[in-house]
Amino acid sequence: MQNRDKFTTSLGVLTATLGSAVSLGNIWKFPYFTGQYGGAAFIVIYLICVVLAGIPVMVSEFVIGRRANSNPVGAFKKLAPGTAWYAIGYSGIAASFLIMLFYTSVAGWVYSYIFRALSGTFINASPEMTIGVFGKLITSNYEPIIWQIIVLIVVSSIIIAGVQKGIERMTKTLMPLLFVLLLLCDIRALTLPGAQMGVEFLFKPDFTKITREVIIIALGLAFFKLSVGMGTMVTYGSYFDKNQNLPGTAVKVALSDILVSMMAGLAIFPAVFAFGFEPDAGPGLLFITIPMVFSKMPLGNILLTIFFLLTAIAATTAMMSLLEVPVAYLVEEKGYSRTKATLTSAATIAILGSTASLSADAGSLLGSIKIFGKTFFDLYDYISSNILMPVGGLFTVIFIVWVLGKANLAAELSNDGQLNNKGVINLFYLIVKYMTPLLIIIIFLNSIGVLKI
Ligand code: PHE
Repeated sequence: MQNRDKFTTSLGVLTATLGSAVSLGNIWKFPYFTGQYGGAAFIVIYLICVVLAGIPVMVSEFVIGRRANSNPVGAFKKLAPGTAWYAIGYSGIAASFLIMLFYTSVAGWVYSYIFRALSGTFINASPEMTIGVFGKLITSNYEPIIWQIIVLIVVSSIIIAGVQKGIERMTKTLMPLLFVLLLLCDIRALTLPGAQMGVEFLFKPDFTKITREVIIIALGLAFFKLSVGMGTMVTYGSYFDKNQNLPGTAVKVALSDILVSMMAGLAIFPAVFAFGFEPDAGPGLLFITIPMVFSKMPLGNILLTIFFLLTAIAATTAMMSLLEVPVAYLVEEKGYSRTKATLTSAATIAILGSTASLSADAGSLLGSIKIFGKTFFDLYDYISSNILMPVGGLFTVIFIVWVLGKANLAAELSNDGQLNNKGVINLFYLIVKYMTPLLIIIIFLNSIGVLKI
């Protein structure tokens, strides 16, 4: 069966996992959240969450997936038969759907920007104009939906055709290219007049901007960006072979993820200040600043087109890993064919996802409808990142410590004694036993006001 294929090489494992982790979260969400929630201080809290929660949960998921060799629901059923632990798997499927609802919408904007850039829309653009172009796109009643459907067709075709291998090969060469392009943006942005303020914004923490809300958002972002707490890494772990170094892989993924995020930040914030945008411009931040960064460069529109093309590819590989969660479940637990599983999931996302596409801006058709004070777009994001994923992560580490137990864990992490990494194992055990649960629980209690930090 195709979805019990294994990743064959170490590099394949790393690129596939990176393909899931490094994506719109880095290039779009990280800068926009950093802008909205106070810059460097937010990043510091975010980094703490990555080290104490993101990486440990990623390793735990790899362990569960590889040991059970199964989709998230099946994995918990196999490792703890007759218990309710498999509920974590279902929470993951719910999270993956919720993320897809708004993620496909943002990916649609990215796809559309490839063509906008290509047609020269942004040659010699002004800040007002880039704001206008973005505003027109997201307040349209049909354009974002059409792009969202195109995105879903692309992702579903890849999943059905099972050309992950081809994609794997493609990402191996294209992702370094995205890196080079980001570097070029950085150089350009850093040499703009006024760039200094952007750099300070990113590196000089001002902790007065940190509120309870901000802390839970940083935690949610750590989960979202590393694709953990919702079964993706259980699914991917199940494709790993027995020689893969699990903690090593997680650390490499997390480091690359941070590096790409910071590079995106360094491309965007100097431009924000140089061109007089607001750092808290929200979801449009990427789409209004990057065209300006390239606008006056020679061949700027070609580079901008390539930039959005590579971002679209990064978004597409992440969406494949998201869709793989319900698809693997439907195939293995419900006996669906891969095609039927993919089409059912994609159709559901297309129908419900239009509510995200039509609420991304206050001026959008559904932009004024608020549930718990949030638009559909924000609500899907909030529930998945700030509730389902941290809770999923919390129960995942509890499972690792109290159900799987230290001996099994040590066997998995050392590849049955092949690796000489006792120190790493002990440190990891200490973190997942005490620190990760404590951090998540404290942040939760704090966010609902039970605790006051
Ligand atoms: N990590 C991805 C990003 O940063 C989003 C994602 C979340 C992908 C969960 C898969 C699972 O864009």
